[in-house]
Amino acid sequence: MTNGKWKMTDGMNFWTNKVVMITGASSGIGKGLALELARRGAKRGLVARRQNLLDEIVNSVRLRGVKAFAIAADVRDADAMKGAAERIQAELGPIDILIANAGIGTSHHISQLDPIHAANVISINVLGAANSVAAVVSQMVERGKGQLVAISSLAAYRGLPLSAAYCASKAAMSAYFESVRLDLRGTGVGVTIIHPGFIKTPLTAGREAHMPFLMELDDAVQKIVSAIEKGKRSVAFPWQLATVVRAGLWMPAFMYDWLAAHNSFRE
Ligand SMILES: NC(=O)c1ccc[n+]([C@@H]2O[C@H](COP(=O)([O-])OP(=O)(O)OC[C@H]3O[C@@H](n4cnc5c(N)ncnc54)[C@H](OP(=O)(O)O)[C@@H]3O)[C@@H](O)[C@H]2O)c1
Repeated sequence: MTNGKWKMTDGMNFWTNKVVMITGASSGIGKGLALELARRGAKRGLVARRQNLLDEIVNSVRLRGVKAFAIAADVRDADAMKGAAERIQAELGPIDILIANAGIGTSHHISQLDPIHAANVISINVLGAANSVAAVVSQMVERGKGQLVAISSLAAYRGLPLSAAYCASKAAMSAYFESVRLDLRGTGVGVTIIHPGFIKTPLTAGREAHMPFLMELDDAVQKIVSAIEKGKRSVAFPWQLATVVRAGLWMPAFMYDWLAAHNSFRE
């Protein structure tokens, strides 16, 4: 890896034999990435709590001869994440790429948001990602190469109605990984922060509220894979929603409040 970008080797694609640890791989985006990266020849360590779902994914790609390893672990448990990373390294080799994807959504009016629920969202979405980074970063720095990928959200940019805990968690996640990137300058370890809009996964399934520019899972997975390959520092998609959200950053609070209140994406 040079300047945060991997060198391509003749005859091999970027992913061939790369060892990728994916958290939240049992469902949605994580599962989509696990299957796509299998197709591209990466060795994958899959982490989530539901072992049975992880095993199904491992078995489905094992038939194609691509190595994968499933570990049931809760991202909130720092020791379990360290143990998971060590087992992946023992089974598949040193971890080249971490995709910190595990996360939960939430939709509550603040008057009904139980602080315990808010703490759980922050704990999984922020501390879980921090535990995932801690489990792999030292060995990446020692090797002088690696890539840390955060699956954040467009919800990181500004507050949204009915989403206090989720927006706070994704804003914290993006800031955390940005700080990590600054700390890792010159080490050969890159950081990529992904800010997706709405994607069709179990997390968004069943929502009645309008979700503008809702993306198919496969399209989102391709965008994430491409951003990792290019060593991008930060990406946001789909571009239409990302443009609106970025414009919101420059709006005065009274204007933003009016716009956000009239465009609630949660029921
Ligand atoms: N879908 C969207 O529109 C969208 C948009 C922007 C960002 N995102 C982000 O993308 C990520 C994936 O979301 P998704 O849409 O794919 O949702 P999903 O289908 O519900 O998948 C969430 C994944 O996270 C895992 N997970 C949850 N809590 C965990 C814990 N404590 N320990 C370990 N794993 C845990 C779940 O596995 P287990 O339950 O088996 O543990 C599952 O594999 C999330 O961080 C989400 O915030 C999603």
